[in-house]
Amino acid sequence: MPKLTEAAIRRLEKSARAAAGRAYAPYSKFPVGAAVVGGSGKIYSGCNVENAAFGLCNCAERTAIFSAVAAGEGSITAVAIYTPTSLPTAPCGACRQVINEFGPDALVISVCDSKNRIETRLSALLPAAFGPGDLA
Ligand code: THU
Repeated sequence: MPKLTEAAIRRLEKSARAAAGRAYAPYSKFPVGAAVVGGSGKIYSGCNVENAAFGLCNCAERTAIFSAVAAGEGSITAVAIYTPTSLPTAPCGACRQVINEFGPDALVISVCDSKNRIETRLSALLPAAFGPGDLA
């Protein structure tokens, strides 16, 4: 997998930050923005979208990934997550599973309103994952 440049990582983080501004989070009041790099190199962003029926809330990461797939991407190489907090937020378990489907070794970066950040790989966040290969 080609390594993302520092400039590309900055662009991805910026896109995740901008997406958080579009979050629909009237219940949790916890806006989240995410952005992913598709196999083509294009960036897709998403925000959390909540619902009065709480179980239907969709996380920012999954919104971004579903947009990428709907646009024709078959893989993702990186995910950035932004929360307006002082500590970075790692993706929830459900989002880790969805990231694994399209980017088992994706770079996962969490940023926030301080210099604190998490930079890791999906394979470290979800070791021994169940994935497409298990159904082959
Ligand atoms: N949320 C995300 O968007 N991504 C995560 O990885 C964790 C949680 C959202 C879901 C819900 O709208 C709000 O944050 C509080 O859980």
